This record gives sequence, C-alpha cells and structure tokens, in this order.
Amino acid sequence: MRLLLVGAPGVGKGTQAKRLAAEFGVPHVSTGDMFRDAIRRDTPLGRQARVYIDQGSLVPDDLTFGLIEEKFSTSAGAADHGFILDGFPRTLPQAKSLDVLLDKIKAPLEAVVVLDISDDGVVERITGRRSCVGCGTPYHLRFRRPVQAGICDICQNPLVQRADDTEDKVRRRLEKYRVETQAIIPFYEAQGLVKRVDGSLAPDEVTRAIRATLGMS
Ligand code: AP5
Ligand code: MG
Repeated sequence: MRLLLVGAPGVGKGTQAKRLAAEFGVPHVSTGDMFRDAIRRDTPLGRQARVYIDQGSLVPDDLTFGLIEEKFSTSAGAADHGFILDGFPRTLPQAKSLDVLLDKIKAPLEAVVVLDISDDGVVERITGRRSCVGCGTPYHLRFRRPVQAGICDICQNPLVQRADDTEDKVRRRLEKYRVETQAIIPFYEAQGLVKRVDGSLAPDEVTRAIRATLGMS
C-alpha cells in the first residue's frame, strides 16, 4: 500500500494513518510527528522548525523535503513494502519533488485519500486533542479517552496538549491548508489518484470508508 492522506488540521489523518499502517505493516510517515520528535530532542532541525510550527505556519519546503529524503533513504524497505504518508506533501513544490523521488525509487503513489470536515469540526477535534509524548498517538477528551486519564494506552507515557493546538493557531493552520495545501488536490486529480472520504464520521466508519474506496472491504 502506497497511500497519501490529505486533509485539514485535526481531520483525523494521524488517527487513520496509524490504524492502516498497523493493519498493513507499513511505515506511517508523518512530517508533523518527525518535526515534533526533532523539537523534543532539541536538534538544529527541531530548533528551526519550532519557529514555524509554533506560529501555525508551514515549515519551508527545503527543510521538510530534506526530512523525507532522509526517511526514504534510511528506512530500509519502506518503499518496497509501501508507506502511509500523513501531512506530506502539503505544497505543490513538495508534491512535485515527491513525485520525482518516488519515480526514482520506482514506488509511485497508488491513491490519495482526501478527508473532508467542516471548520467547526476541526476546532472541536483540535482543542480536545491530547497526544502521547512518547509515541504521538492522538486521544480526545470526548471522542477517544485513554483507559487511564492522562496516560497513553500503548506506551504509558503522559498525554499533553500540542503547542499549536490552540484555537487561534488552528485558524491559522486552516488558512494555510486552504491557501497552500489544497492546491495539491487538483495536481493528484490530474493523475487519477484522488478518493474523497467524509472525515466527520466516527473513527471506525472513516476507516471502513477508506478501505471501501480503496477496494479493500
Ligand atoms: P501535523 O502534525 O501534520 O498537523 P496537521 O496537519 O495540522 O494535522 P493534525 O496532526 O493536527 O491532525 P490530524 O489530521 O492528524 O488529526 P488526528 O488524527 O490527530 O503538522 C503540524 C505542523 O508541522 C504544521 O502546522 C506545520 O507547521 C508543520 N509541518 C508538518 N508537515 C509539514 C509539511 N509537509 N510542510 C510544511 N510544514 C509541515 O485527530 C485530531 C483529534 O480528533 C484527535 O484528538 C483524535 O483523537 C480525534 N479524532 C480523529 N478522528 C476522529 C473521528 N473520526 N471522530 C472523532 N474524533 C476524531
Ligand atoms: Mg496528525
């Protein structure tokens, strides 16, 4: 499975990508998670990326693409067995660079799933989200509670609110999504890869809809 998930902040890309990656045994490649990991480790890349992420802006294309190139060159077999991309690409230059990279390693995308949701739905999901500091798994105060409050079910690390998960930053991220990221959808439509799924449904229903649109039900 070589899949890309596209959608507004908080639509559920991470939630669905983790499920599908576990089910199909392929890597979940999230540039947001990779940047947050670099920020936690206080690496030079993390220090650079933090400035943009904390404002709700996009990290520049060269920094972001460097991360992806490194990931695809070091994660053994990622391209052979497939991958689920979440949050990358999110500009047209990133999408074009990715096409060149995947062409080179003979692992073109098989589908691009676009998850749709309203702006109010985004704000509700983002402001209620708590994420594991260890594995990044997203929880929600209302929609996905951990067994033990404030603790990750999977790795038992604490759950925290992301620094960019405030309402004003979400509005800015939404604007970036509209202005910069949505432009990649017609690019992939022209390649016949786009499938649309209603992201406002419950998590299990979204998973079912993705599987159905990919012909896996
Ligand atoms: P990134 O981490 O990718 O953030 P995002 O795209 O804004 O998306 P989120 O992770 O906030 O949401 P999600 O769709 O994964 O939703 P989730 O499953 O968690 O990027 C962060 C920042 O890094 C960017 O703003 C940018 O600065 C930078 N960056 C990253 N990639 C970049 C790139 N390529 N280029 C430039 N800059 C880049 O779900 C959200 C909540 O809802 C959770 O609480 C979850 O439990 C809940 N939930 C999920 N699904 C459902 C459902 N169906 N029903 C009810 N609740 C649900
Ligand atoms: Mg995410």
